[in-house]
Amino acid sequence: MGVTFEGYPEISGEEINQALDFCNRQILHVLPDFTDKFQQAYSENGFYPPIANTDWTTGFWTGEIWLAYEYSGDGQLRKAGEIQVHDFLERIDKKISVDHHDMGFLYSPSCVAAYKLIGSKEGREAAIKAADQLITRYHPVGEFIQAWGPMNAPENYRLIIDCLLNLPLLYWASGETGDNKYRDIAEKHIHTAVANVIREDYSTWHTFFFDMKTGAPDHGATCQGYRDGSAWARGQAWGVYGLALAYKYTGRKEYIDLFRNVTEYFLTHLPKDLIPFWDLEFTDGDDQPRDSSSASIAACGMLEMSKYLEPEEAEHYRKIAAKIMKSVFDNYAVKDFETSNGLVLHSTYSNHSPYNTCNHCGVDECNAWGDYFYMEALTRMSKDWVLYW
Ligand code: GLY
Repeated sequence: MGVTFEGYPEISGEEINQALDFCNRQILHVLPDFTDKFQQAYSENGFYPPIANTDWTTGFWTGEIWLAYEYSGDGQLRKAGEIQVHDFLERIDKKISVDHHDMGFLYSPSCVAAYKLIGSKEGREAAIKAADQLITRYHPVGEFIQAWGPMNAPENYRLIIDCLLNLPLLYWASGETGDNKYRDIAEKHIHTAVANVIREDYSTWHTFFFDMKTGAPDHGATCQGYRDGSAWARGQAWGVYGLALAYKYTGRKEYIDLFRNVTEYFLTHLPKDLIPFWDLEFTDGDDQPRDSSSASIAACGMLEMSKYLEPEEAEHYRKIAAKIMKSVFDNYAVKDFETSNGLVLHSTYSNHSPYNTCNHCGVDECNAWGDYFYMEALTRMSKDWVLYW
């Protein structure tokens, strides 16, 4: 069944409660600064500055508010969540910074969550509009959703592995509206993505280009990984969670095996403390930053997939997720208000190398999705959680 991390401790029920309790207190503590504003994608020296709702990452903060609301039922959280959902509706109505594929990251943990949890009408309306926006980026010739940049720009005629997390929004929109057009596009994109981003050794490409005329697969490339041909840790983690979700929504059995293999590649490239460096090329002894967010993302994927597996294999993945989350909790989680206004330290957003094309920002800091998926993993381990995805 693959690597088991024999002898590593699992996070206990008591530790999960302690962790969620601190998350809830931290979120309430900073809520006055982040109700009309959102947290920046990444912290600066441990502290997030407030920003307007314009980046691809703001849905994670609202998602944290909803997860905290699920934990404590505190009315202040519900009120703040509703204010933010209203802001998301305005954002999609006015088309503010929505010219990219990250509609799922933005609208699932904020607006779909609000609809599922409190029946928010604004949440439902905003999320359906976001799904409409997302499908405008679909290329029927190559059968994929273009990630970034103006449609048909040659330098951006590509998909990226991260997009697998944007697709649950489309399944949800088909379920809500009865219109299968969203789901059909999601299905086509998933198929194109997994057929191309997964390499023979089950490491993954971050991004994959297509021929503009024929739609045929052209070549893989990295943006945020160390180099073309290496495995960007978060890309691999998006693959783990993305394949679990792909199986949930399509029921295609071949995705189970892909999940097993992509997950195994991730797990066998972890350093001793189970928290990956920012690219899986690096390991213990390398002077490189970690990406703690990838650990929580992969744990969420394993916890999701364990719902669909036979008991023995399900238990295998649940145990690994609990071991990884023990390390996040013990060694990376924020434990007091003075250190940070976030939840998890030592994550990496975008680390520029001589061989990649990304900006340099948020290296060895908290980031919005690292905090969100930490809470999601803890919540998943504390109860039978109804997905926002
Ligand atoms: N989806 C962008 C990232 O993971 O940094």
